[in-house]
Amino acid sequence: MAQDKKKEKVRRMMLSVLRQLRNVRKGGYAAMRHPKIKESATVFFTTESVATLKPEPTAVRYKVTRGPYATVTDSHLRFFEDLLGKDRLITDPDECESYNVDWVKMVRGCSRLVVKPKTTEEVSEILRYCNVNRLAVCPQGGNTGLVGGSVPVFDEIVLSTSLMNNIIEVDNISSTLVCQAGCILETLENHLAQSGMMMPLDLGAKGSCQIGGCVSTNAGGLRLLRYGNLHGNLLGLEAVKANGEIVNCLNTLKKDNTGYHLKHLFIGSEGTLGIVTKIAIQCPTLPKAVSVALLGVDSFEDLLKTYQLAQAELAEVLSSCEMIDRASMSVCTDNLGLKNPLVINNDGYEFYMLIETAGSETRHDEEKLNQFLEKAMEREIVKNGTIATEPTKIKISSFQNIWQLRERITEGVMRDGYVFKYDISVPLPNFYKTVHALREHLKDPRIKRIAGYGHIGDGNIHVQVSIPEYIDEIAHQVEPFIFEYVSKLKGSVSAEHGIGFKKTQFLHLSKDESAIKLMHELKQLMDPNRILNPYKVLPSL
Ligand code: FAD
Ligand code: MLT
Ligand code: ZN
Repeated sequence: MAQDKKKEKVRRMMLSVLRQLRNVRKGGYAAMRHPKIKESATVFFTTESVATLKPEPTAVRYKVTRGPYATVTDSHLRFFEDLLGKDRLITDPDECESYNVDWVKMVRGCSRLVVKPKTTEEVSEILRYCNVNRLAVCPQGGNTGLVGGSVPVFDEIVLSTSLMNNIIEVDNISSTLVCQAGCILETLENHLAQSGMMMPLDLGAKGSCQIGGCVSTNAGGLRLLRYGNLHGNLLGLEAVKANGEIVNCLNTLKKDNTGYHLKHLFIGSEGTLGIVTKIAIQCPTLPKAVSVALLGVDSFEDLLKTYQLAQAELAEVLSSCEMIDRASMSVCTDNLGLKNPLVINNDGYEFYMLIETAGSETRHDEEKLNQFLEKAMEREIVKNGTIATEPTKIKISSFQNIWQLRERITEGVMRDGYVFKYDISVPLPNFYKTVHALREHLKDPRIKRIAGYGHIGDGNIHVQVSIPEYIDEIAHQVEPFIFEYVSKLKGSVSAEHGIGFKKTQFLHLSKDESAIKLMHELKQLMDPNRILNPYKVLPSL
């Protein structure tokens, strides 16, 4: 009897979702959601809304010793002033502050000089001078990095690429873009849309992060499962070495097998081998039909089954597949006031899956989405769902609201106070194990939330442990436990955010000694005076 009731409930739920899909086809692109849910307000991502607490200086909190670098003097300042003019230098300590503190307020440097070049030649002059004078440099893009790589540890000169923001060429026959490193990802996205193209990567930080920063961290993001990573999409780049020499690998050909593939040295090296000044990237065609579904699921096992089914049924139109657990969803609802459209009688689900499809024919994609949902509900692996479709670049609030429940978790959790953030990849069956292990291991009542969310399609989960404010004792409870656990699962301690300042001493858990040795040799070759982003990526010798 109970079984019959359950079946009937699932049948009704599915009919409701299918009806929504049909309405979209009939009535254009009205946003769809579960009938019991009221429309929620659209809230846009802003960095200002994040708590403004100042972290302790990095050197103090993490007990770092300053390297043998010179300190900026008046004579150095005169050189930079002659090169760039006064208005492209920042020396005022208050103005320098935002360049010294990272986005998650985890690290804080004490640089007294920010330089803002506009051209590759200026970057070259700056580095040549810094190399000769042993002045350390911290390259900075949008400062949205999450591993403490983008801000100085001590008084390194911050080289900000924010004025290097020219779009150089859009070729809509070859589908390529060439631009300077300081272009903001969202600006590029909007620009390309005018020519029917898009960027092959998309991140929650798109409104602030720069393409040079994305390349330097080899950022993954929300659509990697469809379009692949930057090692594949980046056709070429231009970079400046520590001694000021310009390396021109700004190739725009899709095929070029001539000699060493040097661009890969700079992709993901987080500003430790050179400063990326220009990039050439291949751009996919902008899809004509995009739909997004938010699904409620009761267990991780069902989530995995749903993912497998999505792969099989949605195949070439699947453009994103993301996971949100109950604790991460509550970050959005409790801390940001976003509405969870799948809440019925004040109750949500253990897991949520966000699935996006992108294709060239609405009807075709809908049919696929239909079939997928039908099977998922028949098998009872999905318990509830809501769908929205975005027809053009005009944003429809439901579409955005669903995406915000995933994209704004990073911002929302900051309102808990302080967050220990982890970005790990593990074989898919073990995807959620680290969250369970942490909940088992951490019993300190000061811990507010242990949450997991991320890119299930890429085997990449983000784990967050939040507390009201930084407490050293809790830091030691979480680390190195989490990294050692991930290593036992044969996972990576950094799936997409990089090593930065925060993970240098855990690099050996994911990289063999022989590989770390070669990394040190490359650093020695390319930056013998170690002026570029010191204290980052490489463990100290
Ligand atoms: P920054 O933070 O300024 O710098 C990052 C690193 O690159 C630093 O080590 C810096 O020294 C170096 N660097 C910057 N520019 C250059 C350059 N031109 N040449 C050489 N070195 C340089 N990351 C993901 O991978 N996937 C995600 O889905 C994702 N989502 C995010 C969502 C939010 C809300 C936030 C805040 C961050 C997210 N990130 C994500 C992390 C971050 O946005 C990315 O790593 C991004 O690529 C950093 O770009 P940026 O311009 O802000 O670089
Ligand atoms: C994401 O996927 O949202 C980002 O990588 C940022 C984060 O880890 O919070
Ligand atoms: Zn991510």
